[in-house]
Amino acid sequence: MAFDCFRDWVDALDRAGELKRIRTPVATELEITALADQEMKSPGGGKALLIEQPTVNGVVSPFPVAINTLGSWKRMALSLGADSVDDVARDLGALVKAKPPGSLREALQLLSQGLELRHARPRTVRSGPCQEVVHTFDAPATRTDPWPAAPSVNSPAGPAPSLLNLPILKCWPQDGGRFVTLPCVVTRDPDTGARNLGMYRIQIYDERTTGLHWQLQKVAARHGRRYYETGKRMPVAIFLGGDPMYPFAATAPLPDGLDEFLLAGYLRRRSVDLVRCKTIDLEVPANADFVLEGYMDPQEPLRDEGPFGDHTGYYTLPEPYPVFHLTALTHRRDAIYPATIVGRPPMEDFYIGGASVKLFLPIFQMNFPEIVDIALPAEGVFHNLVFVSIRKTYPMQAYKIMNGLWGMGQMMFTKYLVVVDADVDVHNTSEVLFHLCANTDPQRDSIVTRGPSDVLDHATSEIAMGSKMGFDATKKLPGEGFRRPWPPLIRMDPAVEQRMKELLQRAP
Ligand SMILES: Cc1cc2nc3c(=O)[nH]c(=O)nc-3n(C[C@H](O)[C@H](O)[C@H](O)COP(=O)(O)O)c2cc1C
Repeated sequence: MAFDCFRDWVDALDRAGELKRIRTPVATELEITALADQEMKSPGGGKALLIEQPTVNGVVSPFPVAINTLGSWKRMALSLGADSVDDVARDLGALVKAKPPGSLREALQLLSQGLELRHARPRTVRSGPCQEVVHTFDAPATRTDPWPAAPSVNSPAGPAPSLLNLPILKCWPQDGGRFVTLPCVVTRDPDTGARNLGMYRIQIYDERTTGLHWQLQKVAARHGRRYYETGKRMPVAIFLGGDPMYPFAATAPLPDGLDEFLLAGYLRRRSVDLVRCKTIDLEVPANADFVLEGYMDPQEPLRDEGPFGDHTGYYTLPEPYPVFHLTALTHRRDAIYPATIVGRPPMEDFYIGGASVKLFLPIFQMNFPEIVDIALPAEGVFHNLVFVSIRKTYPMQAYKIMNGLWGMGQMMFTKYLVVVDADVDVHNTSEVLFHLCANTDPQRDSIVTRGPSDVLDHATSEIAMGSKMGFDATKKLPGEGFRRPWPPLIRMDPAVEQRMKELLQRAP
């Protein structure tokens, strides 16, 4: 289902009983985080929040803030226009595994899938609501005081919202400033022209400059390195809002070179309409709420970004990153500012990342048909802990899976990987830990290897490199040198169990 704008999405959440409206003023400095953190940690992810009167340094912003809009399985499913994320995963899986049709029925099914794919391709349109209000800038920034709004340099549209008075959050007490936490960042490969959409947080330095926190191994960082080699300015567009599928697609770990707008178009079942930016040669969704246009100058030194209270539950300390210079700020008249917070889990990003894993499971299964399921428990904050269940048929198969996953895209960051048998529910952490403890001889059943690590991992001695540990918690086979009989797992006879369950229910 396609949403025309973020406001439509917020209204849909309201109709579904998934939104709490906060009518009293709440400060963008710390207070919104404290509010959202409690909501995100309530059972099932709580509700989405619409803060109708966010304040920036005590002044009410004209733009409401929406937060935690994707922070539950129900809201993730709503954003996909489906009853459940699993339904969408099943459809995508069927598409990926499609074989030539053997009957008219299968042919018709394939045709309808093909028609759905038609929507994947983005279209370029001449104008869009994201440019209802346009402020362009050509003078270097001088102001650092946040309010009142600085007049725009050349806009007829009146006082300009600026990076200093948009309701951008200062999330945690020791954060180095305000951060745009749900930004969709568009860049292009200068060699191939391939577009990338990634989510990389944006620290506000002043009215016209920000940090660009694209980490070493991410696609925009690779694009950036090519610009450093040629010395040319790199155009960068950052947009917020529009359809909730945009931030979801921006976080999805698609292979380098695959346009995330294709995924967004497929999932929302409507092509993404793109408009050309006003000051740079990039395109952004016509229905976005806010767009920051600008560039990164390879001649300019990197600048410290952070500290920032991160997904890891710890502050990420300052590290040098490229600087973004704003050349235009455009927005819808009735824009809503979308935000999230990260911090000690569980947070909204658990559901965003979890939905990605569900949708990409068929692709993992194409590479490794023995994989039954994969889960990234909230405590592992994406990369620290991955549980995989497999249908094991030959010796050392668990190690094949560990090595294979460590070599696949962003799974390379996985610090601890536990492989269990097919009948273990990987979404039940307690069940996985039970099998891990019961089925392993630590020395025999673990492996330590080395590789790239998440740059946010503060525990490694060097940034972006470290070790990984895999556990084979599957039943051991004679071919693996296991000579003793493997004992049966205790299970009650199902009929007896049911009878006694009913008896217990009837008991006073
Ligand atoms: C809320 C949220 C914030 C994120 N912030 C960053 C960030 O600041 N830097 C980064 O490199 N990745 C960040 N990520 C992860 C990337 O969005 C993710 O790895 C994505 O696949 C990168 O896209 P790419 O493969 O096109 O580079 C964030 C993810 C989420 C859910």
